[in-house]
Amino acid sequence: MYYRVIWSFCLLCCTCVRAQTFSFLSEEQNAFVQQEVERLTLKQKAGQMTQVAIDLVFEGPTYVLTVPPVLSEERLNRVVGELEIGSILNHPSRTYPTPAEFREYIGAIQEKAMATTGVPVLYGQDAIHGVNYVRGATLYAQPLGVAATFDTTLARELAEITAYEMKAASIPWNFSPAMDVGRQPAWPRNYESFGEDPYVNKLFGLAMLRGYQGDNVADSTKVAACLKHFTGYGSPLSGRDRTPAYLPERQLREYYLPQYQAAIDAGALSMMINSGEINGVPVHSSKELLTNILRGEMGFEGLLVSDWQDVRYLYERHMVARDLKEAVRMAIDAGMDMSMTAVTTDFPQVVVELVQEGQLTESRIDTSVARILAVKVALGLYDKYLWDPASFPDFGGEAHGRRALQAAEESIVLLKNDGLPLPIKPEQRILVVGPTSDNMRSLNGGWTYSWQGQEADTYLEEYHTIREAVEREFPGRVTYTEGVGFDTLVDIDRAVSLARASDIIVLCVGELSYTEDPGNISSLVLPAVQRRLFTALDSLDKPIALIMAAGRPRLMTGMANRSEAVLFAPYPGPRGGDAIAGILSGRVNPSGRLPLTYPREPNALVLYDHKPTEARNGTYNPLFEFGYGLSYTDFTYADLELSSRVLNPDDTMAVSLRVTNAGDRAGRHSVLLYSSDLVASITPSVKRLRKFTKLHLEPGESQTVSFQLTPEDLAFVGRDNEWVTEPGTFRLMVGGAGGGVRL
Ligand code: BGC
Repeated sequence: MYYRVIWSFCLLCCTCVRAQTFSFLSEEQNAFVQQEVERLTLKQKAGQMTQVAIDLVFEGPTYVLTVPPVLSEERLNRVVGELEIGSILNHPSRTYPTPAEFREYIGAIQEKAMATTGVPVLYGQDAIHGVNYVRGATLYAQPLGVAATFDTTLARELAEITAYEMKAASIPWNFSPAMDVGRQPAWPRNYESFGEDPYVNKLFGLAMLRGYQGDNVADSTKVAACLKHFTGYGSPLSGRDRTPAYLPERQLREYYLPQYQAAIDAGALSMMINSGEINGVPVHSSKELLTNILRGEMGFEGLLVSDWQDVRYLYERHMVARDLKEAVRMAIDAGMDMSMTAVTTDFPQVVVELVQEGQLTESRIDTSVARILAVKVALGLYDKYLWDPASFPDFGGEAHGRRALQAAEESIVLLKNDGLPLPIKPEQRILVVGPTSDNMRSLNGGWTYSWQGQEADTYLEEYHTIREAVEREFPGRVTYTEGVGFDTLVDIDRAVSLARASDIIVLCVGELSYTEDPGNISSLVLPAVQRRLFTALDSLDKPIALIMAAGRPRLMTGMANRSEAVLFAPYPGPRGGDAIAGILSGRVNPSGRLPLTYPREPNALVLYDHKPTEARNGTYNPLFEFGYGLSYTDFTYADLELSSRVLNPDDTMAVSLRVTNAGDRAGRHSVLLYSSDLVASITPSVKRLRKFTKLHLEPGESQTVSFQLTPEDLAFVGRDNEWVTEPGTFRLMVGGAGGGVRL
């Protein structure tokens, strides 16, 4: 594999001096990092390895700061002056500063840091769907929605917007993209991933990484990405956040490492560790994963940060360490470079003690500090750590908003349109009803102005809920009533009586915003009141357009079967209401496709790339398949051609086909190429996505799509846990078209 951390050895002397160098830095920069490591005291190095929440430098108790927040000189002195902490994250709790305010806070922090250690602070934030903690920034669809667009060019553009807007607020480090692969439908962070397929996660993760970091991360419009959460986080057996995952090595290597490998090879500068455990080993304590595999095999050179308080959790939650000291030693020994101690500050002192007691070597500390400083140097923070918001005229502006609207429109998946109730006909009277119809939380999810996204309605007032957007789209034709809350009864009778006077019912069900533990559920089934509302409205014999606004596939089988139209809106962002209204009226032609399998039954959670035995006797029968999504126009495929029917090692095979828009509306369309390995030494998946692309076609227009397939594209992890492409027969499928190819 790739060993990119180069150790130069001084061969002439017997006490060898080793200099750690980084391939992403110039020779001069590498020398500077080395000098800095030599200059810093042990205490200062321990400070560099520490990251705390910005709340710790403000007046007031943590999480309940005074509003507006007031920087505390005393606390700043303590955290940055005395403890010499080298990294800070987040936003001051309960407040949503403007770029100028962030500049002021970060400026004070940086000045203090430069005056004490002389090392700039690395400031980080979770800008996972736009800069969600900065007032006025452009927010867009959550990653699951971005994946539903199947448009990686758009994903990159969105990430470029985020990087630009982060820099407008002087924030150079983004805890994104999450490349977790959401393979547990109930997991409350499904929407933060790009769905269930590792290839989709890889391509979208790469696109966003490139958008964030660009070709030169020191550019004033670029930020360092932080891939997260290495690895296997998206597959907790229970479906609850941060609970055990059991992943055989083969599966780990095939599903949970390749996307990280691709991002490492593309220059990802940092990575965050999975808070959970795999096969009984908390990942923060896994030397096998964090050092042997991540550094040794995968060649990751960058900075590896813990997740929130996860070193502590090794003894507070996971029970693999007796106390903080043992936990710190364990995590550093495993390979962690920086501890997100968040709201506690005892970590650096413990690091110093561990070195003084001989439990950790100072050279181990130096290795981590060099990685941290290398990222600071790559970002150019020693030369510049503050940016003027005035130099970012596009912050929150029209151009960025247009991209966010496009993402919203293309993230929404039309799953059913039986009898063509959509687009809604002119003159039809519309009832908008249901708990997700008139709030912003259901369109935005967590990480929107706050961790749980509960303030979305306050801060996104100028944007339109589904109800507001539908009212604007169909002036004078809309009635609204809530009917039920998420799990509370409001007034179903009123909803029924209003529905009687309407021609079509737009029924909005689903979820509010959440993430992590607060988003845990014990059932994918929707709360009973939402189902009751549906049953009551269904008795009227009026067409129902069901809108499922949610961050994961909440079950809707009965409702979807009985509705004439179904839309899935996976947190499309502030402009999601407008996008939905546009699709309802036909102004927007839907093009989203499911990046996940939509289950039909509570215990049938088998994913699209299941094994043949999981589909015997028709047992694989999801409500909607991965990759499914309708349009208002018809796309036809013809002339599927293979450049050869045999694919030899080192060869590339072209798979081409002609796609025609046979309908009468312009539309965008994703073409998905799957392969099936007919016989393999490890039971093969029935199919795996290998390539995809997205087209725009005017009515009557055709375009030839050509995918280049190599033997590596057909590889899997074999019995010896190594990647292999076995000779044999494969079937290739593109939508409805198919053809055989012999390898
Ligand atoms: C989450 C991470 C996030 C971190 C910092 C943690 O609770 O798991 O995804 O980056 O907080 O906000």
